[in-house]
Amino acid sequence: MNNFTRRDFVKAAALSAAAVSTFNILGAQTVNGIGTQKIKLGLIGCGGRGKGAAGQFLQACQILGIEVEIVAVADAFPDRVQGALAQFKVDASRGHSGYEAYRKVTESDAEFVIMATPPNFRPRHLEACVEAGKHCFIEKPVAVDPVGARKVIALGEIAKAKGLTIVAGTQRRYDAKYQTAKAQIDAGAIGEIVGGVVSWNGQVPWISSRKDGQSDAHYMTRNWLNFTELSGDHIVEQHVHQLDVANWFIGRTPVSFNGMGGRARRETGNQFDFFSVDMDYGDGVHIHSQCRQIAGCYNRVGESFRGTEGKTVGTKVMGKDVSVPTIKLEGASMIQEHVELIKSARGSGTPLNCAQAVAEATLCAIGGRMSAYTGQLVRWVDLTKNEKSPFYAMQLTPNPIDFERGTVVMPVEAPSIPGKEIKFRNR
Ligand SMILES: NC(=O)c1ccc[n+]([C@@H]2O[C@H](COP(=O)([O-])OP(=O)(O)OC[C@H]3O[C@@H](n4cnc5c(N)ncnc54)[C@H](O)[C@@H]3O)[C@@H](O)[C@H]2O)c1
Repeated sequence: MNNFTRRDFVKAAALSAAAVSTFNILGAQTVNGIGTQKIKLGLIGCGGRGKGAAGQFLQACQILGIEVEIVAVADAFPDRVQGALAQFKVDASRGHSGYEAYRKVTESDAEFVIMATPPNFRPRHLEACVEAGKHCFIEKPVAVDPVGARKVIALGEIAKAKGLTIVAGTQRRYDAKYQTAKAQIDAGAIGEIVGGVVSWNGQVPWISSRKDGQSDAHYMTRNWLNFTELSGDHIVEQHVHQLDVANWFIGRTPVSFNGMGGRARRETGNQFDFFSVDMDYGDGVHIHSQCRQIAGCYNRVGESFRGTEGKTVGTKVMGKDVSVPTIKLEGASMIQEHVELIKSARGSGTPLNCAQAVAEATLCAIGGRMSAYTGQLVRWVDLTKNEKSPFYAMQLTPNPIDFERGTVVMPVEAPSIPGKEIKFRNR
C-alpha cells in the first residue's frame, strides 16, 4: 500500500496553500549552491493540482532560502485564473485565460513553468516551454496517445541539449521510502523480480455535468476526467503512478499488454470503469495491473512485487539483509520534486530530465488501455517503433489544436467496444 491517495493530495495542497499565505521570503543569502537570483515562476493550468504544485514550489523555495515570484498564470477558464491569482496574491495583469493563454506564460520571463492541465495538452505545452528555454515541471501523465508520448520523449532530448531540467509529478520517485526500497531491490534484497500486482482501485473522483448552452469544448474541458481524449482514461490519468513504479523497480519497460475492461456505472464521457491488464516484461516476468473507478467497491492503491529471494509490499522489502545508505530528503515528496527541479536547473545537485521515464509510464498505461478498448494484444514496439501497427500513429481527437482553433467536435459519450474498434478514434 502506498500513502498517496487523492484525499492525501488534497490535504497536502491545503497545507501548502496555508504555508503560502504565511510565506516569508528568506532573503538573498543561499547556502545551497543555487545562486541568489530571484526565481520567476509561471503556471499553466490553475486547477487543484496546478495551485497545489505552485504552493509546493514556493515551499521548496522557502526550504532552499531563495526568493520567488509568480510572473504569469494561465488557464482555459477565467474563474480558474482568478482562483490562482487570489490564492497567491498575484496582480491581475499576470493572469491569462483561454486555450492559447499558455503562450503568455512561455512569452513571460518565467525561468520555471509548472504544467498541470489535463494531459492531452501536455506535449504541446511542453514543446512551447522547451522552445522558450524554460525549466519544466510536468504533471503526470504526459500524453493520451502514442504520438504524444513519443513527442515528450523527443522533447526531453531537446531539453537535455539545451541544458533544461524537466521534472515530472511522479512523486513516488521523490519519496525516501520508495527510494530506499528501490536501493534495496538494486542491492539484491529480493533477487530478481519475477512478478507483481499494481493497482489503483477507487471511485470516480468527480463529474461535471453539461450546463445549458455550454460548448462541446467547454463541456469536455470541465468534465475532462471522464473523456479519454483529455485524460487518457483513468488507467492513464491515475494508475500511471503504479505503472511508473513497476518500470522503475524492474528497470525496464514491458514488451506487451493484454488487457480487458469495461464500463458498468459511469454516467458521462466515454471512459471505462475498470481495467485488468497483463503486462509482460519478457523473460517470464508478468505484472498484473488492475484499476477501477466505481464507488462502493473494495479500494486498494499500491504495488507489490515477488522476487526470486523475497518480496515487497508497498515500500516494505522482505528478503535478504542488504546495506543501503540512509536517504534523507529536504521535504515531503511533493515538495522534494520541486527542490530537486530547482537544484538541477541552477546547476547544483543531480541534473534531472524525467521526460523519458514519465512518458514510458504513460505509454504503458496507453498500451493497456488500447488493448482493453480493442481486445487486441498491444506490443511495446507497436507504440514506439512499428510504423505499420495501427496503434503507432494513433492520435486522439479532438486534439489540442482543435481546442485552440475552436474546431472541437465532441465524441459520442459511449465507451469503446472490444473486438470492434481496432482504430479507436484514430485521426
Ligand atoms: N501527481 C499527483 O498526485 C496528481 C494529483 C492530481 C492531479 N494530477 C495531474 O495534474 C493534472 C491536472 O489535474 P487537476 O486535478 O489539477 O485537474 P483540475 O481539473 O483541477 O485542473 C486542470 C486545470 O487545467 C485547466 N485547463 C484545461 N485545459 C487547459 C488549457 N488548454 N490551457 C490552460 N488550462 C487548461 C482547467 O480549466 C483546470 O483549471 C492532470 O494531469 C492530473 O492527472 C496529479
